[in-house]
Order: sequence, then structure tokens, then C-alpha cells
Amino acid sequence: MFSRSAARTVSHARQFSSSAARQHKVAVLGAGGGIGQPLSMLLKLDKNVTSLSLYDIRGAPGVAADVSHIDADSTVKGYAADKLDEALEGVKVVVIPAGVPRKMSRDDLFNTNASIVRDLAAAVARVAPEAHLLIISNPVNSTVPIVSEVLKAAGVYDPRRVFGVTTLDVVRARRFLSEVTGAPTAETGVTVVGGHSGSTIVPLLSHNAHGKGVSGAAYDALVHRIQFGGDEVVQAKDGAGSATLSMAYAGAKFASTLLRGLNGEKGVVAPSFVKSDLFADQGVEYFSSNVELGPNGVEKIHPLGPLTASEEKLLAACLPDLKKNIEKGKAFVA
Ligand code: NAD
Ligand code: LMR
Repeated sequence: MFSRSAARTVSHARQFSSSAARQHKVAVLGAGGGIGQPLSMLLKLDKNVTSLSLYDIRGAPGVAADVSHIDADSTVKGYAADKLDEALEGVKVVVIPAGVPRKMSRDDLFNTNASIVRDLAAAVARVAPEAHLLIISNPVNSTVPIVSEVLKAAGVYDPRRVFGVTTLDVVRARRFLSEVTGAPTAETGVTVVGGHSGSTIVPLLSHNAHGKGVSGAAYDALVHRIQFGGDEVVQAKDGAGSATLSMAYAGAKFASTLLRGLNGEKGVVAPSFVKSDLFADQGVEYFSSNVELGPNGVEKIHPLGPLTASEEKLLAACLPDLKKNIEKGKAFVA
């Protein structure tokens, strides 16, 4: 028989070896920015992250030095502009919030962000071809196809490993539904499908017990607020950028969900903008819906389930816009 303290030591050793085997190296590209800094901080606190690689064309070593003092077990290293390849060595998950935030429409960002994302994806293809890529840079509806095309051209594309981060829409939907109904946020989770901009964002409020009770003008206002929540922040920041703190929270939340799936946890499901067959017959190759996450990334794409007439209408408005955004991304790389 073990003494109590020996048993404690064995149990600690077990805990350590099992958790150590399940931790991953994560990189943030754009770590010096408005999203990148708080996102890096939140990832530092994630127990499934063993080390963090922070890269930016400006300021990443400073952010890394700062974040590295937080008393969590993960290690942190910053990489300057000319050290992208080093930053990506051995990385399992790459989160990309690099690029400019909008002043007007997200599509305005296309010209600047398309080439930033293309070049970062090319580096990932070269150095960490098996990494999972989480794309935050806007316009997500186009940047995800860009990344995918770059990986395809490099011969390392696996659609199970490329994700557009639409979690902020899900976070907003939960919060806004709670505000409208007075129900606690623990009860107002909403699946949001489609893409990440305006009319392409389709909240499935009828799938939530509180959401299905919202109707008429209140329903229209709630849907509009979820679809255009980003505008509220852009306007309130008055020229100083778009959502950063809520986005960092949402990005860390999705990264943490993916890491749980990569570690083999069962039943890990979250909406994400991925290569999808759901509407491929209508020419929409990428679509956000609930996906089951596992050791290989996307394990299963869930069907949307029953839709109300209002949701069918939202979906009908989403698909043509989304198709155009996707085609624009693909054409950029072609
Ligand atoms: P920001 O300007 O504060 O930060 C962007 C960072 O990217 C800067 O530090 C910049 O130096 C860096 N950068 C630029 N080019 C780079 C490159 N080639 N390699 C590495 N880093 C590079 O902007 P932000 O507010 O953090 O927003 C970043 C992006 O995230 C924007 O495109 C914005 O629209 C998008 N965004 C997406 C969502 C979403 O829900 N997916 C939400 C909010 C913002
Ligand atoms: C958001 O939804 O807040 C982001 O996509 C940033 C933006 O441009 O609105």
C-alpha cells in the first residue's frame, strides 16, 4: 500500500504526464495588435498551451516579455519581423489576427489583408504544414479561401485544419439574447451560421428556448444587432479601429475549444467557418455551422437542423453574398 503522501506523489506524476502529453505549441501572428495582445495574454492562461510563439512585424518581443511574466506554466517567446519561420517551428496551432481593422466595410480591408494573410499562410505551409490555422483577419469570408488556396498550391491543404473564427458572432448572439429576454447568458447560447459579415451572419434563434420566444420587431432588431454588432464598436471607437477585447476573448475561446478537441475530448462542438458540403451544390464552398472538433481538427460538420421561415429567409440572403466573398478570395490567389 502507498502512504498517503506517496499516493499523492504518484497521482501528481500521473496528472503531470497526462497533461504534459496533451499540451501544444501555439503561435499568434499579429501578436502586437489590438487583438493580438490580449489574445496572447488569454492564451498564456490556457492550460493546454505549452508554449506561445508571438510574431508581428512590430512589437512582438515586447509583448512576449510582458506576457511571459504571468505565472502560468507555459513559456512565451517573441519574434521580430524577420523571424517568421523561427516563430512557426514546431507549432500545432496558428492564430492569425494580423492585418488592418476597418473604418468602413469589412470588404475595404480586402486589398491590404489579402496579401498579408496569403504571405503568412505560405510561411505556415513551408514551416508548419500540419498546423491548424485559425483565421481572424477580415474579411474572414475571403481570407479563409485565400489561406486554403495557398495551402493547396503548396500541396499541404487539409480542410479539417483551416478555420475562420466566427466566435465573436456567437458570443454577441448569446449576450444580446440575454439582454432582450433577461435570461442568464448560461441559457442563451445561439448557433450562428453562414459567414462573418452583415447579411451573411445567420443566427438560429429558434434553436434556443429563449430565442424562439422572440418575435416581430424585437426579432428583427435582435437579428440586425447580431449581424451588425461590429458596427457598434467601429462607431464607438470613432476611427480608432474595431472590436479587439471581445474578439480576443472570442479567439481564445475558440482556440481553447479546438485544443480540447485535439486532445481527444469527446463532444466538442462549436460553429466555425470551414470548407463545407452543406451548400456546395449552390456554389458556396465554405460555410460556418456547428462542427465537431477532434484530434484531426474538423471531424464532422453538423447539418443546420430545422429552420423557421424567417431563418430560411436570412439564409437565402446570406448564400449569394457569401458565394461572392469566397470567389473574391479564390480569385486573388489564382
Ligand atoms: P491592429 O491594427 O490593432 O493589429 C494588427 C496587427 O497586425 C498589428 O500589430 C500589425 O503590425 C500586424 N501586422 C500587419 N501586417 C503583418 C504581417 N505581415 N505579419 C504579422 N503581423 C502583421 O488590428 P486589430 O484590431 O488587432 O485587428 C486585426 C484584424 O482582425 C483586422 O483585420 C480586423 O478586421 C480583424 N477582426 C476580426 C474579427 C473577427 O470576428 N474575425 C473581429 C475583430 C477584428
Ligand atoms: C467584428 O465583427 O467586430 C469584426 O469583424 C471587426 C469589424 O470589422 O467589425
